[in-house]
Amino acid sequence: MTDMSIAWSEDYACGLNPGARGLAGLLGPAKAVQITSEPAWGSSGDNPLIELRNVSKSFGPVVALDSLEATIHPGELVTVVGPSGCGKSTLFNILAGLEEPDPGNILRFRGKSSAASELLGQVSFMPQRDLLLPWRNVIDNAILALEIEGMPRTQARAEALKMLPEFGLAGFENQYPNQLSGGMRQRVALMRTFLFRRDLMLLDEPFGALDALTRTMMQRWLLDVWQKHRRTVLFITHDVDEAIFLGDRVLVMTARPGKVKLEQKIDLPRPRKADIVTSPEFITLKKTLLDAIEEESMKSFMTSGH
Ligand SMILES: Nc1ncnc2c1ncn2[C@@H]1O[C@H](COP(=O)(O)OP(=O)(O)OP(=O)(O)O)[C@@H](O)[C@H]1O
Ligand SMILES: [Mg+2]
Repeated sequence: MTDMSIAWSEDYACGLNPGARGLAGLLGPAKAVQITSEPAWGSSGDNPLIELRNVSKSFGPVVALDSLEATIHPGELVTVVGPSGCGKSTLFNILAGLEEPDPGNILRFRGKSSAASELLGQVSFMPQRDLLLPWRNVIDNAILALEIEGMPRTQARAEALKMLPEFGLAGFENQYPNQLSGGMRQRVALMRTFLFRRDLMLLDEPFGALDALTRTMMQRWLLDVWQKHRRTVLFITHDVDEAIFLGDRVLVMTARPGKVKLEQKIDLPRPRKADIVTSPEFITLKKTLLDAIEEESMKSFMTSGH
């Protein structure tokens, strides 16, 4: 039964994710991580977790990414904003090992040159759609990655049960996705991503479908969880307030073909309280970022034939 449901999940996820290898492939057993003594590119002692140099990606005539450069350090929470279609999810698909960039790129993971496919199973990824399996209840959705990794179901369930209260899901372990609110579904998907313990977490618009109030609560909750677990997080959002409130840095991407237009450090103190969004420092940052994003959104709008 277990094997069958995992095989099913792969078909299901592939169906939602054409071209990608699907959830089961994504969550598959990690390859052994080799840490070499080779010095990291551009490293100055504080070794980056991820370095991307000259990363481009084309889909036929569509150039999604062009010469993208970025460096992510361990423990950072970096938010990514940019116009729709500028290549944000493509970037995550590369970092999750689901897509190979075009030749000529340099992709380093823990200082070691890697093909994107070597990252498959080494990062935890919450895709833009939550991909909960409708026939699995909360707990069995949450443990999917652990099961695929080979952990016995009883052990995986016990681990997930312990985490339910932290994710605001205590008492909901036996509910099915169609019995949950949008915010709860997002938390189940996040919990699954957290349970798959990897140094790098990729969250693609995890709160995109939520109303403003639930979203604010989820942001505060995410910061609490991140501060407790200290994973490295890359977080895509269309919401500038969210990008600043959460991030150590915000990467603003250009209109397609996407590259990093602006890298804005966010020096606001942590822990961040909800009212920080009204502080002069926050508003100055927001203005800088909005100017950069608006310029790119206009370009994107003009080239899309409007
Ligand atoms: N598998 C694919 N095959 C063909 N084209 C693709 C594929 N994946 C992405 N693209 C194209 O690459 C471009 C970037 O898409 P991507 O999904 O990365 O954008 P995005 O920045 O995540 O957009 P959004 O903010 O709307 O989610 C788009 O033009 C898209 O059509
Ligand atoms: Mg996207």
